[in-house]
Amino acid sequence: MPIDLSERVRLCLARRQLVHAAGGRGNIGRVKVVFLAPAYPPEMQQYTRGLAEVGATVYGVGDSHPGSLPASVRQHLTDYLQVPRILDEEDVIRRVHAWMRGREVDRVLANWEVLVLTAARLRELFGLPGMSVDAVNGFRDKQIMKERVAAAGLRVPGSVRVLREADAFAAAEQLGYPMVVKPIAGAGSADTYAVENRAELESALARMGHVEEAICEEYIDGEEFTFDTVSIGGVPAYENVAQYLPKPIVARSVESVSPVIVTVRDLAQEKMAKGLALGRNVLKALGMGDGFTHMEWFLKPNGEAVFGEIGCRPGGAMIVDQMNYTSDIDLFREWARVACWGRFDAVRPRKYNAAIIFKRARGNGRISRIEGLGRYLRRFGEHVVEAKLLPIGTQRRNWKQTLISDGHILVRHADWDTARAIADAAANDVTLYAE
Ligand SMILES: Nc1ncnc2c1ncn2[C@@H]1O[C@H](COP(=O)(O)OP(=O)(O)OP(=O)(O)O)[C@@H](O)[C@H]1O
Ligand SMILES: [Mg+2]
Repeated sequence: MPIDLSERVRLCLARRQLVHAAGGRGNIGRVKVVFLAPAYPPEMQQYTRGLAEVGATVYGVGDSHPGSLPASVRQHLTDYLQVPRILDEEDVIRRVHAWMRGREVDRVLANWEVLVLTAARLRELFGLPGMSVDAVNGFRDKQIMKERVAAAGLRVPGSVRVLREADAFAAAEQLGYPMVVKPIAGAGSADTYAVENRAELESALARMGHVEEAICEEYIDGEEFTFDTVSIGGVPAYENVAQYLPKPIVARSVESVSPVIVTVRDLAQEKMAKGLALGRNVLKALGMGDGFTHMEWFLKPNGEAVFGEIGCRPGGAMIVDQMNYTSDIDLFREWARVACWGRFDAVRPRKYNAAIIFKRARGNGRISRIEGLGRYLRRFGEHVVEAKLLPIGTQRRNWKQTLISDGHILVRHADWDTARAIADAAANDVTLYAE
């Protein structure tokens, strides 16, 4: 039966409303997303929620038993494939391929560093839009990454890839001391050493025997920052900078430190200009597509901004929560909107410097007491947005393996110096003990 014009207009309007509700731009219906690791690490649960909220049909793939998925995740999944080992790339690709046979899929996504290449390979296999294996490789392999960034005329630390001890000594001749030696595909600053001389290099190498391939780098002094984005076609729709206090290489080697990370509210200040320009150019140089990026960069005392490293996924250690507290925004959902519909809808004011302080207990074993928290909260409570320390009686975490350590306090303030002072007080005046 032919429909008259007014009926067509009505249908058209209804269709538009539906599209709007779903967050789309003319695509009717739902975007079908295969999302790798929808529940682990735990923050992935928020991306799963975000995907569902922008109208995606989410097919989750993980190695947890479906029965062990939290209800808050399960409710957002249309289907779930349990694989024996999520990091076994070949096996995961084979199983997902078989699982999706006869079904439509529009996106394959991952926000966990170890799975971004698996997602890219699946996209290529299915012929789907999104970043290619080659582009993602530029965000995974630290040497290829630096070569591509340097080829774009951007400042990277001098570096040499090394396979044997002899290569490292030759690299030191070329780069000079101080020098950094670290695994080519490292994470969490594991096996990363700054060495001042040959003796220190020897002892670092002795401790790195299990590392297959390493990289030697010119040591860059100065301050260390992040540059985080949610990008559309490699152009940031949301930008963030945060400062590490102290630098991760120190925070990850000295147990008594309470590592602090502070987002910088005022990105328009002169001090940030070179880092922001560097970051935007790095995204172009590496052919970034849609999604999160997390870059690290150095600001040298002479004002020069130097590239550190970058991933095409969100930073860990709750930095997305920090950004959300900085702008009163939900980037878990906005990322999903970008990934599914190519749109970022939220307003993005920078209201606060948001500081997270990670606490490490003194002593080993179980948390036995917490000192100074009550006093701290009485003093600064109005600026505290989260205080999640391990409860008394729980086993301490391994501080080398998780930056989250034995809990965190998250605070925010519009003034940088005040935010820093409140963060320093949490670092110095709150103490956990374990025995
Ligand atoms: N060339 C360098 N000059 C100065 N410091 C460096 C250099 N390379 C690495 N570092 C220090 O070591 C830390 C870890 O290095 P990098 O970020 O390359 O490795 P990672 O293990 O992938 O890091 P992450 O902790 O982000 O997972 C850096 O955050 C920085 O503090
Ligand atoms: Mg790093």
